[in-house]
Amino acid sequence: MVLEKDILSFIESKAEDEFDSYYVYDSQKIRNQCRIFQNISYKNKSIHFASMANISSQFLRIVKEEKVNIFVNSILHLEAAHKVGYRDQEIILTSSALSAKSIIKAESYGVQLNLDSPNQLELWLKLFPKKSVGIRCNIGDNVKPYATRAGYFIGKNSRLGFTKEEINNISDKSKISGLHLYVGTDIFNIDYFINCYKELIDIARDFTNLEYLNFGGGFGVSEDKKKQFDFSEFNTQITQLMNEVSKQINRDIKLIIEPGRIIGCEAGYFVSNVTDVKKRDNKLLVGLNSSTVQFSRPLLYPDSANHPIMIIRDGVQLISDKTVTTTIYGCSTYSRDIFSNNVELPELKIGDIVVFGNAGSYSASSYMQFLGFPKPEEYFI
Ligand SMILES: Cc1ncc(COP(=O)(O)O)c(C=O)c1O
Repeated sequence: MVLEKDILSFIESKAEDEFDSYYVYDSQKIRNQCRIFQNISYKNKSIHFASMANISSQFLRIVKEEKVNIFVNSILHLEAAHKVGYRDQEIILTSSALSAKSIIKAESYGVQLNLDSPNQLELWLKLFPKKSVGIRCNIGDNVKPYATRAGYFIGKNSRLGFTKEEINNISDKSKISGLHLYVGTDIFNIDYFINCYKELIDIARDFTNLEYLNFGGGFGVSEDKKKQFDFSEFNTQITQLMNEVSKQINRDIKLIIEPGRIIGCEAGYFVSNVTDVKKRDNKLLVGLNSSTVQFSRPLLYPDSANHPIMIIRDGVQLISDKTVTTTIYGCSTYSRDIFSNNVELPELKIGDIVVFGNAGSYSASSYMQFLGFPKPEEYFI
C-alpha cells in the first residue's frame, strides 16, 4: 500500500530520532465516508455513527460537521457525544443488561433507546408506563446466520436481542416505537444484509405505532483494498426496500443506519518507531516503541486483525521485493504483545518508521491501561 503524500509529509514532520507512537487521520476520508451514507436516496433517514469505533472528540466533531448523528453503547459515550455538542434527539443508545440507573438516565436525557430483552422492556414499562421505546431483535431463526469477525450477532449463538418468540409474546406492541437489528460486522454481502432486513420487516407489520427500522452497521472494509463495499447497489436495494415498507404499512417509516468501522477505518494510521531488531534463524523479530495495548486490534483478534504495513526510511516509503519473514512485537514483557506475526517485509532496521494502515476504527478507542503505556496522541490532517 502506498502512503498518501500528505500523510507521508506529516509523519516526516514529526519524525525526530525517536518519537512516541501516535495515530494520524486523513479528515477528508472520514468526511467522504459520511457523505456516502448521507447520499442514500431514501429521504426519511437518519445516519448514526457507531461511536465505539472511534470516540475521539475530534473524530466525532468531523462526523457531526457532516450532519451524521451518533449511536452510543454506554452512558459514558453518551456524555462524550454531549461534549462535542450532539443534542439528545441526535443520539441513539442501544446496549444490553442496562441497570435501572442507566435506563432512568437515558430517559431523562430523552435519547432514543433500544432495549435488549423482555426483562429490560418490563423494567422500562414499570418505570415509564406511558412511554414507548425501541427493541433490539434477533431475527436469526429464519436466516442462516454466519459468524462475522466478532462472532454471531444474530441466531441461536448470539446473546443479543429479543428472539422471535419473545417478540411475539410482547403483550402491548403499541408501546414499541422502533425495531433494531445488527447483523454482524465487516460484511460485504448485500444480499445477506437485505435478507436479514426483510426478516425484520416481516415482524414490523405487528407493531402499529412503529416509527423507525434501525438496521445497524456492519459494512465491510477490506484489508488490502481489493474489495470495496458496493454502496451504489446497497443504495438501490435499501431505498427500494424502504419505499415498499412505507407503502405496505401506509406510513413513512424512518430508516436508521449505524455505520461504525467503514467511516474511519481507512482514514487512520498508527505510527511507531523501530527500537530493536533480533535475528532468529530465518526470521526477523522487530520491536517497536509501542505496545498493542495502544493499538489493540492485534491483541483482541490475533488471528484475523491484519493491518497493511508501510515502512518509512530516511523520509521515503521503502518498497522492495526483497523480503524477510518478520514478526513485529511491542515493547513489553507480555508474550502476546505482537502486532503482526510472520509477515513478509523488507528487512527492517532500528530507526525505521512502521505505519499500520486501516487503523481508524476500533483502534484508538480500544486503548487499554494494561501494561502501562500512555494513550497515543491522535492527529487529524
Ligand atoms: C448495535 C451496533 N450498531 C452498529 C455497530 C457498528 O458496527 P460496524 O463497525 O460493524 O459498522 C455496532 C458494533 O458493534 C453495534 O453493536
